[in-house]
Amino acid sequence: MKRITAEDPESRSSDSVADNIAHLARLFPEAFTEGKVNFTVLRELLGDATDEIEEKYGLNWHGKRRARRLALTPSTGTLRPCPEESVEWDSTQNLMIEGDNLEVLKLLQKSYTNKVKFIYIDPPYNTGKDFVYRDNYRDGIRSYLKITGQLDGAGGKLGSNTDASGRFHTNWLNMMYPRLKVARTLLREDGIIAVSIDQEELSNLQKIMDELWGEENRFAILTRRAMHTVRNSSKDFNLHADYLLVYGRNKAWFGESPDRYIRQPQDKSANYPHDEGDGRGPYKLDPLHARNYYTPYRHEFENGVIWEPPKGRYPAYAPDTLTRMERENRIAFERGEPKAKRYLAEVQKGVPPDTVLSPGDVGFNAEGTRELREVLGADKVFPQPKPTRLVRYLLQLANDKDAVVLDFFAGSGTTGHAIMAQNLEDGGKRRYCLVQFPEPIDENNNELQTATEFLESAGKRHNLAELTKERLRRTSASLGTEPATEADLGFRVFKLDSSNLRAWEPDRANMAQSLLDHLDHIKPDRNEEDLFYELLLKLGYDLCVPIERREIAGKRVNAVAGGALLTCLAESIEGPEIDELALGIVAWRDEMDEAGDVTVVFRDSAFEDDVAKTNMTEILGQYGVKDVRSL
Ligand SMILES: C[S@@+](CC[C@H](N)C(=O)[O-])C[C@H]1O[C@@H](n2cnc3c(N)ncnc32)[C@H](O)[C@@H]1O
Repeated sequence: MKRITAEDPESRSSDSVADNIAHLARLFPEAFTEGKVNFTVLRELLGDATDEIEEKYGLNWHGKRRARRLALTPSTGTLRPCPEESVEWDSTQNLMIEGDNLEVLKLLQKSYTNKVKFIYIDPPYNTGKDFVYRDNYRDGIRSYLKITGQLDGAGGKLGSNTDASGRFHTNWLNMMYPRLKVARTLLREDGIIAVSIDQEELSNLQKIMDELWGEENRFAILTRRAMHTVRNSSKDFNLHADYLLVYGRNKAWFGESPDRYIRQPQDKSANYPHDEGDGRGPYKLDPLHARNYYTPYRHEFENGVIWEPPKGRYPAYAPDTLTRMERENRIAFERGEPKAKRYLAEVQKGVPPDTVLSPGDVGFNAEGTRELREVLGADKVFPQPKPTRLVRYLLQLANDKDAVVLDFFAGSGTTGHAIMAQNLEDGGKRRYCLVQFPEPIDENNNELQTATEFLESAGKRHNLAELTKERLRRTSASLGTEPATEADLGFRVFKLDSSNLRAWEPDRANMAQSLLDHLDHIKPDRNEEDLFYELLLKLGYDLCVPIERREIAGKRVNAVAGGALLTCLAESIEGPEIDELALGIVAWRDEMDEAGDVTVVFRDSAFEDDVAKTNMTEILGQYGVKDVRSL
């Protein structure tokens, strides 16, 4: 039985450096000697493409190199399940994760790499009043737990990044850079990201996005009028606009087929009154003539009608096109006049989105505030939430009703709300994954005046992640009253914490006690479910993967993904239970008819001694279960 320890790859988040080296080695095996990169050879292989000049084009700031390295270090944390704070835990595919988003993104890497279709984020704009997280480069998880008061109860106020700090832009860039770098790995090849920002950090954001995502993958910078009202108090310009930077994971991919190109179908169905029920959908009728097109000609239709363009007009179609249209039943006669059927489905394909967003499509910020007030019944609980209409409009860029959508600066949870509403409207099965820091409420922030009062009355702790969850719960409850709802209105809550597995960090002053403690390397305050979900995450399973559960020999056994992974994380498995459990697991495996190899995982300390473990491994082995591990 192979024991998985905190040092094994199976118990760690994705190792980006190792992945990068493996990619490079696959492309250039000759540039590797004994597992190390030989830069002289690599340089030769890349010829003129290498740049040895010291003064390089690009944006630099203090800490950039460290920020890049930070994106590559694996997380030592885990995500602990919180079914009691969730809605429809058993059936939902949506996620709301409480924690620092950099650690969370790293933890999601194994399970969600190349799975996300659309990322929308609305990070702090760096107004001078925003909380801008300072990463701890040595121990991200410990520092996070300390800051949020989960280590020794202290925690508290985080303070904002003021423009007097002398590191105003630097702090913001150091925070954004590693997050945008890791986020890219989660996107599918045809994935898209849209990032909201205002003029304070627009140029910096564009520079780091160009660097990390590639200038060639930039689709556009969209401009939006965020505020409707004019504040005449401004000294020079009234600042109303904010922007959305839109990049593709790989823009070239979109060019391959025009159908895949980023576009926003507009709902014009009202203008398409006809439908013959032949599967081609609604259509409208357009004249066959235009102001100036083809040389005039006459055409005789099969029903004997002879058509020619009216005086001063020209045929809109070439003669052979018209013949083909007639053959394909694309001509209809309206009061005797032949007309072209224009199908909605075909027209919609060709509308590229505009770079100046219309308030009619995306709404002003005030609309977001109003929506939040309607859901929570309180004002001044969150500063400038975005209108759901904006997110729903952006969802069309993803052009995929099954999209997995990620928002790792979730704020009040607008993205979750927008997805529930959009799925309800169009029958989509989009899934959301939100991440929000349990940021303490800043009592001095005028726009958060009643947040504490609201959370207190709802019986919640006083931080912004509680607000996100409460909005999702209330939105779900109000949308759930709509008749015949099949949309997924639930969400699973997970919280960032240190790993359930103890890393080998001996207390040198008390080595004997450290050794004893390490005999069971699972932390005492963690339960079976914590362990189970850490295992899923570190083995790369979706956190919403289908799970079946059974009692075998009085122990709970989980079958994941139709039986590819079977776990029994009970605290003790004794004597005769070993046989019963092993045979029960084999019988269940046979029943499930899992085609590939099966992995079975137990809790290491559940067995009395090594003999008991060997026993279990051998019985399972006899029935063809070869991959047996313990945690
Ligand atoms: C501008 S708000 C997002 C507003 C959101 N779009 C809405 O409509 O409500 C940015 C959010 O990101 C959160 N945040 C900032 N740093 C974070 C971090 N390191 N991890 C997770 N969330 C973070 C802040 O607490 C804040 O709620």
